[in-house]
Amino acid sequence: MEYVCYKLYPMRDAENSFIKQVIYVSKPVGFDDKALEGVLVQSKQNNKKNQITGALICRSDLYLQYLEGPPNKIDSLYSKIKIDARHTDVKLLEDAKSKRRLFANWEMRGDPVKDWMWTQEEVADGVLERLSQNDAMNIFVQHSREIDQFLS
Ligand SMILES: Cc1cc2nc3c(=O)[nH]c(=O)nc-3n(C[C@H](O)[C@H](O)[C@H](O)COP(=O)(O)O)c2cc1C
Repeated sequence: MEYVCYKLYPMRDAENSFIKQVIYVSKPVGFDDKALEGVLVQSKQNNKKNQITGALICRSDLYLQYLEGPPNKIDSLYSKIKIDARHTDVKLLEDAKSKRRLFANWEMRGDPVKDWMWTQEEVADGVLERLSQNDAMNIFVQHSREIDQFLS
């Protein structure tokens, strides 16, 4: 039921307007199901008001978030996220603009780290700090394609 609603009312932007895309990685502080749910519920409520969509990949050792929306709203959200005590070591990986959203149907999609992403050893070894802007974006392009397959 929820999927049907999302499918019928995807976020729409004015034609020819650019959205801003931001990707960052961080380390959770006190990560558990309850903490994650708190972040996701708050994100969905706020993002709907601010025309922001995106995805949050999470595991006890990492948050990797992709945000897309009006540039001023993304800037203001990212400045709040950077100082949020629920995570630390926030590192910006990508800051770009686009005419097309990757997650138009998702106020904030939360997913555990996928099989094709990284092991905890790789993360501990700093693989995410070495991710190029292109690689970071490609992770969310691939992730959004996998979601589309299941929705259609
Ligand atoms: C990993 C992580 C992801 C977050 N993502 C979002 C988000 O997508 N949207 C949002 O509004 N807040 C998000 N937050 C919460 C913000 O840091 C901040 O607490 C919130 O935007 C403040 O909302 P308020 O101004 O309504 O009090 C996130 C926090 C964390 C730790």
